[in-house]
Amino acid sequence: MKRRDFLRAGAVVAASALFLPLSRTKVFGALSATQAKNLIPAVKLNNGIQMPRLGFGTNTLNGDIAERSVADAISVGYRLIDTAHIYGNEEAVGAGIKKSGINREELFVTSKLWVDDAGYENTKKAYQTTLNKLGLEYLNLYLIHRPRGDVKGTWKAMEELYEAGKIRAIGVSNFDPDQLAELMAYAKIKPVINQIETHVFLQENKSYEALMKTGVQMEAWSPFAAGRNEIFSNPTLAAIGKKHNKSIAQVCLRWHFQRGVVAIPRSTKKAHMMENLVIFDFELDNSDMQTIATLDLNKTQFPEWG
Ligand SMILES: NC(=O)c1ccc[n+]([C@@H]2O[C@H](COP(=O)([O-])OP(=O)(O)OC[C@H]3O[C@@H](n4cnc5c(N)ncnc54)[C@H](OP(=O)(O)O)[C@@H]3O)[C@@H](O)[C@H]2O)c1
Repeated sequence: MKRRDFLRAGAVVAASALFLPLSRTKVFGALSATQAKNLIPAVKLNNGIQMPRLGFGTNTLNGDIAERSVADAISVGYRLIDTAHIYGNEEAVGAGIKKSGINREELFVTSKLWVDDAGYENTKKAYQTTLNKLGLEYLNLYLIHRPRGDVKGTWKAMEELYEAGKIRAIGVSNFDPDQLAELMAYAKIKPVINQIETHVFLQENKSYEALMKTGVQMEAWSPFAAGRNEIFSNPTLAAIGKKHNKSIAQVCLRWHFQRGVVAIPRSTKKAHMMENLVIFDFELDNSDMQTIATLDLNKTQFPEWG
């Protein structure tokens, strides 16, 4: 973040704090939707398109809760919305987008192709189904959810959809460095993103280095490890938060941001959604970053997902 933007962010947060009850603003602060929208910095992906560096995740949100949460997230300033066919919530997410009343061009919507739909023909059909469910004409980003099945056929179909202007960007999820290298060896179009499990307990340094080198943007799924391993009461993160007058959630998101990793936290609570946006007005110093590095267990927090 440039110094000018950093100062602007601080001023916005300070100004917004005036309108909030003291107990919350002291620690968390909050932003109006317009302020937040203007504040979330963007990253330019390797195909030239811009993507917000902080977004909103929707895994496990369904029905009315998904619809309301997506509309709330957009209302407080999120512009990147992440869903997937396998979440079974694309219709509800689409309804939430509609309910928000936002102009489609202001949003960055991601969905993912599930493994059952792998392969050239299936991918084309699955993409159309996803669009129909979301009620959208195009996706900003479509990802291969997992490296399973006919990845080569899937990628070819995604390349064609991209070249036909039906998707703004294509990428992958849950690819390890070798799987990504294999895809890149035959890909005509380079993936823009690899979305992988990343949080303080699984820092994925090997993937991080490899992605930095290849110019594929790293995106963190479960940036809070979905609350596992007692992340929200971790004493090390709490101490760093106390030093900066920030919550553990804000420390985690700031850590992702400073590493240059896009994060997509999920929440059903508007207060949490707002809190998670106030991460651009402070900086973790080298000692904070080194301390957080020691929390790496180099182990998934979701062993049940294989
Ligand atoms: N590509 C993949 O294979 C894959 C896999 C998993 C997830 N994802 C994506 O990544 C997104 C995020 O991951 P996730 O949903 O697993 O979990 P997460 O974002 O790591 O954590 C969500 C949990 O954190 C809590 N939370 C959020 N903000 C908080 C705050 N400020 N203070 C305290 N608690 C807070 C939420 O509770 P409240 O509702 O109470 O706030 C919820 O229980 C998903 O929703 C999905 O879009 C992708």
